[in-house]
Amino acid sequence: MNGERLGVPSGSSRSAPEPVTAVIEGAGAWLPLGLEQVESGLTAAVNRGGPLSEDAVTTLTAGGKRMRPMLVLLCAGPGGGEPAVRAGVAVELVHMASLVHDDVLDRAPLRRGKPTVFSESGRGRATSVGDQLFATAFRVLVDGGDQTAVTELSRTAVDLARGELMQRRGAFDLALAEEDYIERCSLKTGRLFEAACVLGRSTVSPDQAGVMSAFGNRIGLAFQMLDDVLDVAGPPERTGKARGTDLLDGTVTLPYIVARDIEPDLTQVDLRSLDETAAEALCERIGETGALDRVRERAMGLIEEAKQGLSSAGLDSEQRELLELIADGVVLRYS
Ligand code: FPP
Ligand code: MG
Repeated sequence: MNGERLGVPSGSSRSAPEPVTAVIEGAGAWLPLGLEQVESGLTAAVNRGGPLSEDAVTTLTAGGKRMRPMLVLLCAGPGGGEPAVRAGVAVELVHMASLVHDDVLDRAPLRRGKPTVFSESGRGRATSVGDQLFATAFRVLVDGGDQTAVTELSRTAVDLARGELMQRRGAFDLALAEEDYIERCSLKTGRLFEAACVLGRSTVSPDQAGVMSAFGNRIGLAFQMLDDVLDVAGPPERTGKARGTDLLDGTVTLPYIVARDIEPDLTQVDLRSLDETAAEALCERIGETGALDRVRERAMGLIEEAKQGLSSAGLDSEQRELLELIADGVVLRYS
């Protein structure tokens, strides 16, 4: 192995949140061991950060599902070893960084039902914590000495930022085209799922890495669509945020786009003057068109396509079954 070692497994087991439990139970010992190593690697990486570490550690323990590291490990399989653990740590750090920055941009009070770094520590500190997590992700990969992996993650980070920029550009645009929504979500969410799969697979089989990208992108896109449904459907006790938060931010999502195409009167809404009560009422109107079920069906279709595409990925049967389970888990989380 090149470079500095990651933290060794401490034996400290982190209780696995849904929907990952079924995947862990279905896998051999290599998967829980790999996840523990990712957890130790995350703690070690964040604790190297000096004075900003406190907020970063809060982010680390804020209830993330570790779906992306799990994808890395599953795509690598039992032979993934340290490179797969390292990639899992790096991908999760980029994910955490993007959420901390996203909460600054959204001025979000809560994430996963808990106060955000932005609300607890302010804009400046949250921006710096996001920067620290983001930079640490690259340090972890660079320490592993795999230039291809660094290239993949840096391209991914650029795509995430492009997706976020598209969202800013399209804010409050009630005529937003569905293709623009899909491209934005594919960049801001699908791309990191894709990178998790590509990085994982390339640790054991560089020639097949590309085949995994479609799987990752599709389940990431489905994940985002269902997240956007949840923003409209609630309930807040489950989502950890108020209904209609996206609309209040001016973020036009697929539930609105589909509803608008069914009920053109919805284009008469003035998003800029929405308050929380009006946002809830708009969510009700969107729900009444049947748009939420249509978006759920679209997401499930993507999950099916993703699973079917696995047949050409040269995976062994255990790996394939576990990847199918995790794809189903994306939907189960929202059922
Ligand atoms: C959460 O989704 C946010 C993202 C999927 C991506 C955010 C990306 C950035 C802030 C730019 C890139 C940052 C780095 C460090 C490369 P959401 O906003 O749809 O949902 P939520 O706010 O309700 O969680
Ligand atoms: Mg957001």
